Amino acid sequence: MNAVKQIYLLLICQGFYLGSVCQEWTFPSRAISALIGSCVEIPCTYHPARTSGTSSTVWYLYHRLKSSEILNSRDSSSVMAEYRGRTSLVPGENSCTLRIDNVRRDDGSKNYYPGDRNTDAYRTQSRTVYLHVTDEVNIRLYMSNVTTEGEATIIRCTADHTCGSSPPSLRWNKPGQVKNKSVEISEGYWREQSELTYIPSYVEDGSHVKCTVTYPNGEDIEEPGMLNIEYAPKNVTVAAIGIDEVMEGSDVKIQCNSFANPAVDDYEWYKGKAKLPDTGREITVRKVTRDMEPYSCAVRNRVGRGESAPTEIPVQYKVLSSTNIIIPATIGTIFSLLLLALPTYFCWRKKFQKLTSNETKASPDATYTDLIKRDIENDYEQFKTETCADGTYTDLVKRDMESAYEELKLKSGKEGSVIVQVQHAQSSVPREKKLLPAEHIATLTMGT
Ligand SMILES: *[C@@H]1O[C@H](CO)[C@@H](O)[C@H](O)[C@H]1NC(C)=O
Ligand SMILES: *[C@@H]1O[C@H](CO)[C@@H](O)[C@H](O)[C@H]1NC(C)=O
Ligand SMILES: *[C@@H]1O[C@H](CO)[C@@H](O)[C@H](O)[C@H]1NC(C)=O
Repeated sequence: MNAVKQIYLLLICQGFYLGSVCQEWTFPSRAISALIGSCVEIPCTYHPARTSGTSSTVWYLYHRLKSSEILNSRDSSSVMAEYRGRTSLVPGENSCTLRIDNVRRDDGSKNYYPGDRNTDAYRTQSRTVYLHVTDEVNIRLYMSNVTTEGEATIIRCTADHTCGSSPPSLRWNKPGQVKNKSVEISEGYWREQSELTYIPSYVEDGSHVKCTVTYPNGEDIEEPGMLNIEYAPKNVTVAAIGIDEVMEGSDVKIQCNSFANPAVDDYEWYKGKAKLPDTGREITVRKVTRDMEPYSCAVRNRVGRGESAPTEIPVQYKVLSSTNIIIPATIGTIFSLLLLALPTYFCWRKKFQKLTSNETKASPDATYTDLIKRDIENDYEQFKTETCADGTYTDLVKRDMESAYEELKLKSGKEGSVIVQVQHAQSSVPREKKLLPAEHIATLTMGT
């Protein structure tokens, strides 16, 4: 059958073009796809039958009645207007490869075939190539659906195209080492590949890695993929929940917070160095005291473990009755304090009377004197004297600090006492202290 055809072809060649070169062309028999706006190459080589003749190459657009030239390497004047300037030959040994630039929709769904001045593939080989024009691009992103922080991973992007001499370019939006490769996957089809060696960082978890493909017509197409980066717990912290102020003696819930992927599934709690039996995210600390050891937690996921810093629960002074304050203090302390406090006694009295007569309504910016610190016997070296609107008041200054309290602010008063909220110079947490009513000072003074 093939042999018969060969002989028949030879007869045709010699019958029609006696003594001339009988050409044969190799070009794809299956359809070629081309992207609108891009370019397409239809691979082709010619085989001179006897000599490597004076090859002029012509490409034809097939038509049942009369085919038209879309490329003529000798004389472009005979080329159809729609193709003129857009078609060219791709150089190479015995190449008759046709390139069409700026592919239009109208170029598609048509048959083309190569030839020369004397004959053509349709006549000698009864073949054409079908051009399929599409606006669908074939871009793929290959990546692991799960990566681990710090462990290099390869992300691959491929873009198929039909234009070997002007491949699309591939870019990444993430840093890393890039390796490019271009392979011809079949006749007329190429695959442009870019490999990114990416080292995941936990901050990128949930973000998109994008491969941007730019085709010769300047069109950008993005192929995104989401990064799922697993990492050991970060930023592990312990915090009291539900309340702003933790009062001494109360129960408080504390929570262990962290960032982790996947979510942490194991909690450990420590009080000081001692491990607690609790294993939940939240624990309740009963009857908190101001001198409690700090709490810390440790969490774990399948990637690793994270630990919080030892964290002190900020506990406020309990509001104590005035006798509770006085009794633990030594007589000496009280006496010296009273001696120092005495000059301001009248100032106090005046203030206090004003308050009680006012149904203990607080004047928000008054300054008061702090008299006794409950758990310290003789911690005060000096009184710091301040002037307020209606008199001079005195603040206790702690020996080892410049000023123990930044401010003494009246919060509320009841049962003849004044409660002030003091702001510790070295803590952002306000603590409450109770000041002695002026009457108590007077009573004690008389007793001593
Ligand atoms: C990755 O995704 C594929 C398909 O969605 C799934 O079959 C596979 O289990 C996933 N791998 C992991 C490690 O989650
Ligand atoms: C890979 O190709 C892109 C364009 O496609 C280019 O910008 C980049 O420099 C290339 N990288 C390497 C390592 O060749
Ligand atoms: C975690 O801690 C780091 C450093 O301590 C900090 O830069 C980052 O913002 C924290 N992340 C979050 C989500 O709080």
